[in-house]
Amino acid sequence: MTETAPTGHGGDDVRLTGISKTYGSFHAVKPLDLTVPQGSFFALLGASGCGKTTTLRMIAGLEEPTTGSVFLGDKDVTDLPPYKRPVNTVFQSYALFPHLDIYENVAFGLRRRGVKSVRKQVGDMLDLVQLGDFARRKPHQLSGGQQQRVAVARALINHPQVLLLDEPLGALDLKLRRTMQLELKRIQTEVGITFIHVTHDQEEAMTMADTVAVMNGGVVEQLGSPADLYENPNTTFVANFLGTSNLIEAEVAGKNGGDVVVTVGGAKLVLPAARCSAPTTSGGTLLVGIRPEKISLAHADDAGSVPDGRNRVPGRIVDSSFIGVSTQYVVDSPAGTALEVYAQNIERDTRLVPGAEVVLHWNPAHTFGLDAAQSLRAGTTGAGGTETADGDAS
Ligand SMILES: Nc1ncnc2c1ncn2[C@@H]1O[C@H](COP(=O)(O)OP(=O)(O)OP(=O)(O)O)[C@@H](O)[C@H]1O
Ligand SMILES: [Mg+2]
Repeated sequence: MTETAPTGHGGDDVRLTGISKTYGSFHAVKPLDLTVPQGSFFALLGASGCGKTTTLRMIAGLEEPTTGSVFLGDKDVTDLPPYKRPVNTVFQSYALFPHLDIYENVAFGLRRRGVKSVRKQVGDMLDLVQLGDFARRKPHQLSGGQQQRVAVARALINHPQVLLLDEPLGALDLKLRRTMQLELKRIQTEVGITFIHVTHDQEEAMTMADTVAVMNGGVVEQLGSPADLYENPNTTFVANFLGTSNLIEAEVAGKNGGDVVVTVGGAKLVLPAARCSAPTTSGGTLLVGIRPEKISLAHADDAGSVPDGRNRVPGRIVDSSFIGVSTQYVVDSPAGTALEVYAQNIERDTRLVPGAEVVLHWNPAHTFGLDAAQSLRAGTTGAGGTETADGDAS
């Protein structure tokens, strides 16, 4: 399988060809081809243990690949030691020097290379990460987010071609993490070098990255822009790991122009053939996917007002949670149990409470089709130890 990120081309792309890592008989990373375009913000996203750190460490030269090569541009760097690669890494534990102040922490890489006059470069770097006023403080006098920015400045001052970030925000609380995501994105845009960011937090990956590679069990399952992955997942793992998907097992009834017609629990559903990543032979089964926010709920009394041409299934509300911006409903229907529906909080229909009979309806164009041979629950909490977006994967 060759995965090529869709954006940009440059002479200094990071290219992994057939790279893999085995520990004894355990395949931590299965043979992988991956191109990270120069200047992109690239995220490796996946649950704990899927091989993200191992992949990053092979790029850094901290781990020797079992097979395959690492290229930076045209240069094969597979046999180069870490310090000879134009690559720097920021780890989750920032590993700042506690006895040096912020200025000297940032200056460290320059001084080690014997650069005499470091003042302008260190000053510029501290400005970039907005810590100019903190130059003379020691690391323990900074907040977690500030220390994290020092770690980024200390890596960037070496002008690496590629900055590797391994869960750099993992130690921060949720709110600070959100702020730092935007901050890191700003820094990346400003310096324009390639960032490869490892995270198990899907929201983090989607907020920051141009391109996300979703990893599962040592394999890249799918690669694309956040919007593309979200709207067009090719596997149940991606459909469930990035946000929430309703997956309904249906029987293929036939084709109608560019559409596939399926039946489930007495309902007929339509979806674009172009959005099916599986064969659609009549009589076969297909997993029909629909995101919770694409579904509208009508009370059964208003069923007649649902416009023609919508996919529709009857159901009964079994649970509802008001969470401010939206209400999240759980609905049982002949098409499937525990279907999720998110209704934006604009005007609330007070009849939509647990026990109410409803009609779920949505635009057929918003429906996608997946191979029914896969596990419906791949990528959800509780399936093979996969974490939720904000779960602690370490
Ligand atoms: N030195 C090692 N010896 C044996 N197995 C290892 C070694 N290092 C990693 N592994 C295994 O390889 C797999 C991938 O590890 P890796 O650190 O790449 O996961 P990860 O995706 O970064 O997970 P996390 O999100 O928890 O950091 C894991 O199952 C891990 O237990
Ligand atoms: Mg890791």
